[in-house]
Amino acid sequence: MLVLGIETSCDETAAAIVRDGQEILSNVIYSQVKIHTPYGGVVPELASREHLLKIRPIVDQAFRDANITLDDVDGIAVTAGPGLIGSLLVGLTYAKALSFAKRKPLAAVNHIEGHIYSVSFEFPDVEFPALALVVSGGHTNLFWVESESGDFRHLKYKLVGRTRDDAAGEAYDKVAKLLGLGYPGGPIIDRLAKAGNRQAIAFSMAKISDQSLDFSFSGIKTAVLRLVKQNEELARDPMRLDLCASFQEAVVNMLWSTTLKAVQNLKPKSLMLSGGVAANSRLREVFGERSGTIGLNFYYPRPILTTDNAAMIAAAGTAKLMRGETVDVNVDADPNMRLAERKSPIS
Ligand code: KG4
Ligand code: ZN
Repeated sequence: MLVLGIETSCDETAAAIVRDGQEILSNVIYSQVKIHTPYGGVVPELASREHLLKIRPIVDQAFRDANITLDDVDGIAVTAGPGLIGSLLVGLTYAKALSFAKRKPLAAVNHIEGHIYSVSFEFPDVEFPALALVVSGGHTNLFWVESESGDFRHLKYKLVGRTRDDAAGEAYDKVAKLLGLGYPGGPIIDRLAKAGNRQAIAFSMAKISDQSLDFSFSGIKTAVLRLVKQNEELARDPMRLDLCASFQEAVVNMLWSTTLKAVQNLKPKSLMLSGGVAANSRLREVFGERSGTIGLNFYYPRPILTTDNAAMIAAAGTAKLMRGETVDVNVDADPNMRLAERKSPIS
């Protein structure tokens, strides 16, 4: 099954061609980061205008790179939510038009489910039930994932934990802004932290009750703000490197401590990490080492598939198309789309 994937939920215009949900024939990502950098974050109006200009050339490029045409595909998969409404509408409307004009089945994909499927390219044999931690600029969610088919063809999700305040990537971006590092902050802090001492500053962890599998990052972010107000030297090198390293260590420890609690409570067969923040070198290292220590299978995608891309949307869409879960031209974008309702972790 050849599927065209389209993703425009935030500030990447992306298109990809994927065979059988497995083989990436093309994966084109146009990042708008330069347009939003002067504002220190994504400006929704500018994002949707830019998607409008880029959607057609990017989709055309995906076909050229894969050396096929629209007539060759068996279906189209597009992100329908969550995300910025104006951005979502560009990709969704374009996909609906292609689907209608060429009578190709259309699958509406949840962006978060796409991130989970980003793991499936390199690791199609992930053991289920699994825990999936999705960490991005907009989301920090921990899902319990069961498979009816034993593989990625038919997954079911329960939300067992989420952030109570900022998403992990959002905390990175806000701290980077505070330190005058630029946007997006995650990759910059990741790089600077390598030269810093992660034990230089001890951040206290937010107190979340023993039963809860939730995360919280705003306390760590506010602590950085307070420290910099008290001592401006911290925002300048060389102390800034230690601040970045210590902040990153606190975020990674917050993510691991809750994930470990979930692993101990729910006893999954494996752990999947995905989303933009999954590119973080320290996060990969810590999760890899500690999963190894407790004998848990641990999987994460290669860097190009961690940030927003359309290959992951095509993979999730392929599973939907194979199950016959298609939509027609009346489908709407849903900026607040949920992948799973919140459930008690053990049910
Ligand atoms: O998944 P994504 O591309 O977009 C959303 O769905 O939100 O994630 C973008 C987020 C940004 O907050 C960015 O700072 C963060 O991922 N990010 C990182 C790294 N690379 C990207 N955070 C920490 N370390 C990184 N290396
Ligand atoms: Zn994303």
